[in-house]
Amino acid sequence: MSVPLRPTPVDGFPTQTSHLQRETEELLSKHASGQATLNKNAHMQFLVRNLVQGFPARYTSQDASQPWLMFWTLQAFSVLQVGLDPGNRQRAIDTILTWQHPDGGFGGGPKQNAHLLPTYAAVSALAIAGRAGAGGGWDEIDRQKMYSFFMSLKQPDGSFLVSRNAEVDVRGIYCLIVTAILLDICTPELVEGTASFVASCQTYEGGFSSASQPYFAPGPDGQPILLSSPRPPLGEAHGGYTFCALASWVMLQPFVSRMPENKPSVNLKTLLRWCTNMQGVDIELGGFKGRTNKLVDGCYSWWVGGCFALLQTLGVSGPPHEPPAEGASQADDDSWDDVDDSLFNRKALQEYVLFAGQHPSGGLRDKPPKGADAYHTLYCLSGLSAAQHPMIPSPPRRDELLGAWSDEGVDDIRKALFIDSLCYAEEEGASKVVGGPSNRVNATHPIFNLTMTHAEGIMAHFYKQQIPP
Ligand code: FPP
Ligand code: ZN
Repeated sequence: MSVPLRPTPVDGFPTQTSHLQRETEELLSKHASGQATLNKNAHMQFLVRNLVQGFPARYTSQDASQPWLMFWTLQAFSVLQVGLDPGNRQRAIDTILTWQHPDGGFGGGPKQNAHLLPTYAAVSALAIAGRAGAGGGWDEIDRQKMYSFFMSLKQPDGSFLVSRNAEVDVRGIYCLIVTAILLDICTPELVEGTASFVASCQTYEGGFSSASQPYFAPGPDGQPILLSSPRPPLGEAHGGYTFCALASWVMLQPFVSRMPENKPSVNLKTLLRWCTNMQGVDIELGGFKGRTNKLVDGCYSWWVGGCFALLQTLGVSGPPHEPPAEGASQADDDSWDDVDDSLFNRKALQEYVLFAGQHPSGGLRDKPPKGADAYHTLYCLSGLSAAQHPMIPSPPRRDELLGAWSDEGVDDIRKALFIDSLCYAEEEGASKVVGGPSNRVNATHPIFNLTMTHAEGIMAHFYKQQIPP
């Protein structure tokens, strides 16, 4: 006998939000069962159509996001374990290079202004499709100019404008640090103060908002002095910003651990609670929402579902293991054994992606009855991957990488960034694939959202070279 799915309780004051929530639950409950098959072939055809025939006209509004369309498509292929043929691969490399700005960084299309977001997307796409050597894309990236472009955006509080004369937000910070680590241009000078800024974006809920408010105090000569703390977060905790802030925080750990004083801190306990609270209940099929009192959506499978591996990197694995209360039996104490599933229901998330996330004619989506699009196709698949393959920091992998590192001239920070970024491994025996082995997708790097092979390939190439002065 199946148990009916219970709607989220409402109070006596219905609002537009509570109506929408109820409607969504009704709709999702109709998708609560069916074939738990990942339609790999249909999704592949969706991706091939976009890449080879070109994106349909409705993507015109994304003219300034061309590197994103490329990254979403190429990385979705990688998660689906599909490689590109040499012709399409070269076409992708040549196209990506047309977006590089003559003064450094990449724009959203040819001759568009350089911006941190498309820069990340273009470099990540090159990590997938590119290679070393003339015409391969990697050596055509102007790292010197990239570094100058990054430094030109730096603010006194450690944050970065996303583009010249534009705004600051943690998405840009994530994009900048990933790019700098992949290309081996992440210097202490570049990220000085950035960890404090990132930490200041954590909200009272535990998740992160887009930015934080500069906070000034009067200085002795009447000039305002920018204080790094306290800085009120600007806006609401959101899954997209939370992933960017947390991943940035993880990448910045080698710098934070070397700070002699005033180390910034993040409240990992409230962050974990917030991430856990973003997972929908059974009637929402275990999908994730991006913010409190909003609707579940397939893309947060990655933006929030992906946060659990990052939290594990920081040593967070569950509620503090308190000693059993006096008189409590051993069985009470053992109830924490399965902490992982109690915090992140990996099975339920896979079911959301399989039942609600897949569009019947290929590609993945926010939720039914919406259409599929390139963005949701990647982030539903990446979230599915995060749910299938728990990734943990791996000491044996770290030793292996340290053993392989022979360049004596490399400084401590570069070594730490290279090794820390690559020392993840799948938790042995923990992968759980809902629907059977044919639904298995590739594991994806918890910070970069690239396969391990692609992340390691581009990093190994650049870490052998001189860092720009
Ligand atoms: C709200 O949309 C969305 C945001 C406020 C920002 C989302 C940010 C990301 C997804 C992260 C992007 C990451 C990078 C690296 C660029 P909404 O109001 O339509 O959705 P909601 O109701 O689910 O909040
Ligand atoms: Zn979405």
